[in-house]
Order: sequence, then C-alpha cells, then structure tokens
Amino acid sequence: MKTRSVIRGVGAYLPSKVLSNDDLSKTIDTTDEWIKQRTGIARRHIAAPGELTSDLACAAARRAMQNAGVTAEDVDLVILATTTPDNTFPATATRVQAKLGIRSGAAFDIQAVCTGFVYALTQADNMIRLGQATCALVIGAEIYSRILDWEDRGTCVLFGDGAGAVVLRAETTNGVERDRGIISTKLGADGRFYDSLYVDGGPATTGTAGYVRMQGKEVFKHAVEHMSSLVLGLLKAEGLTTSDLDWLVPHQANIRIINKVGERLDLSDEKVIVSLEEHANTSAATIPLAMNQAMERQLFKPGDLIGLTAMGGGFTFGAALLRW
Ligand code: UT7
Repeated sequence: MKTRSVIRGVGAYLPSKVLSNDDLSKTIDTTDEWIKQRTGIARRHIAAPGELTSDLACAAARRAMQNAGVTAEDVDLVILATTTPDNTFPATATRVQAKLGIRSGAAFDIQAVCTGFVYALTQADNMIRLGQATCALVIGAEIYSRILDWEDRGTCVLFGDGAGAVVLRAETTNGVERDRGIISTKLGADGRFYDSLYVDGGPATTGTAGYVRMQGKEVFKHAVEHMSSLVLGLLKAEGLTTSDLDWLVPHQANIRIINKVGERLDLSDEKVIVSLEEHANTSAATIPLAMNQAMERQLFKPGDLIGLTAMGGGFTFGAALLRW
C-alpha cells in the first residue's frame, strides 16, 4: 500500500476588471493584432485597488475546497506559489491560512516565478507521501499588474492578475497502474540565467518592488526546451510514451511556446489545454487556471494521464505526471 496525492478539487479566481489589447493600444505603441499573433493573448484581468494577492488566493482556494468537499478543519498544509506577496514577510500563505480559518499544519510561500505552482505541488506531494500532511491547499496567485513597467511594451502586454488552487488529499493505493494521483514530479533550475528574466527591485537591492525585465527571445528558447524535455523524461521513467498522454497542461505564457511544446511531444492540439487568451501570463497561477478551465469543459476523465509543465525566471523549470 502506497500513499498518493490525489487532486480532489480545483478552483480559480480572476479579478473583475478586464484590460483588452485594444485598451493597451491606447496607452502604448502596440496593436491587438501584434499581441494576438505573437502571443495568443486577447485580454488580461487586473486586481482592484486594495485587492491583495491573499484575496485572490483565498477566492480560488475557497472554490477548490468547495469542489473537493473539504472544510478548513480538513486542511493541514497551505502552500502558496507567488512572486507578488502581500508583504516582503511573513509568507502570504499564513494570511491565507488565517482568512480561510485553517488552524493546523504548515503554511508557507514558494518563489519559483512561473514554475511556482509545479514547485508547490511537488513540495505538497512530497510532504503527503512522507505522512507530514493529509490534505493540502496548493495555490498559485499573482498580481503582476503591480510589478509591470506599463511603458515597456515588451513586457506589460504579456502578464495579468489571477489565482488558481487545487486541493490535494492523501489516499492509499494498491500500486495498480491506473490508480489516481500524482505519479511523479521533476524540478530543475539554472541560475546562470538569473538576469534573463527578473525584477529590478527588491528589499535588499532598491528597497522597492521593482519591475519585470525580460529577454523575451532567450526565455522563449529555453521554455520550449525545458517544458518539453521534462515531460519526455517523466514519461520515459515510467515506461510511458507521449501517445499515453491524454492531456498536457502547460504554463500559459505564449501560444507559440505552447504549440512548439505540443509539437515536440507529438500531441494533437485538442490534447493541449490553452486558457491564455482569457487571462494572459499569470505566472504561478496559469496551470491551475488552465486546469480549472478544463474542469469546466469536463475534459478530464477518470484514468486520464495528464502532464503539467512550466518554466520561469531563475531559470526554474518543472513538470508533473498524474493520473486523473
Ligand atoms: O513565463 C515565462 C515568462 N515569459 C515568457 O515565456 C515570454 C517568452 N518570450 C516571448 O513570449 C516572446 O519573445 C515575446 C512575446 C516577448 C516577444 O516576441 P518575439 O517574437 O520574440 O518578438 P521580438 O521581441 O523579437 O520583437 C519583434 C518586434 C520588435 O520590433 P523590431 O525591432 O522588429 O522593429 C519589437 O520592438 O516586435 C516589437 N514589439 C512589439 N510590437 C508591438 C515588441 N513588443 C511589442 C508589442 N507591440 N507589445
């Protein structure tokens, strides 16, 4: 008998204010056509003044808990992946824990930028397998609108605000192949590329939050490579091939990255979940947002093999393989 982490609920939240590509073209030198063609993004959501990352996280988490049928008493771990915490410290996860009325277990943030959700899911899965938690809330929540240079058209059109969450429960299995849950995860980092995608501020540098700076082409190239090779590696380790994969939920940064990853994995477009058009790149929140969209479309069926994959600043990268 083995313990596996099973996703029992998914939830998402997008702030009500929508900023379209046309809206952006009124303030910077860009067009709806350029943004759609080069990225696949049509619009992004923007948090209201006073709305915090913890608010977005709680809204997504509440929906995930409701879908999973769990209460605050059941949850004994909260991991929040975010690059835009409410404050430098304490961890925004502790505020989320308090707001949701969760009183037991650990609560902490993970900073792996766009790979944050996969890092957080991996950490929760490891703790569940070790018996250190039984029911985890894994959340990705971001307010990128507050760390964007709204005069830099190379970055400000790409990102948005939003949150997604899953509830992971410990369940025992008899080791049969098609048992539900997370099968394996793999994380990586290559800090030599720190300056390729970073924020030019921080408590120890400028004392201000700073703005996103990115070498887009460099990030693009590495994203395609890491996101595809990690999934191939996980499949191979399980004696599986890409034809066994029912769904791929990639980090939603650019439709051209997603398409190239899909091609490398030899997946038809229908098997690749894309929600980017609606919310742009919400960093650590994109994978649970995309999963939530797939749930709403009732795409995932019991027994389906699903791959998650992401790459972000650092560089960091990670992937997970799970059985629905
Ligand atoms: O989650 C991880 C984080 N980020 C990513 O994954 C992003 C990865 N990179 C990308 O998605 C792409 O590199 C971008 C979308 C950022 C840029 O696309 P690109 O095809 O690499 O374009 P580019 O940077 O080579 O720019 C092409 C042209 C340039 O003009 P010139 O020099 O050819 O005259 C840019 O100045 O497009 C121009 N450009 C724009 N034009 C209109 C750049 N941004 C814009 C814009 N609107 N918003």
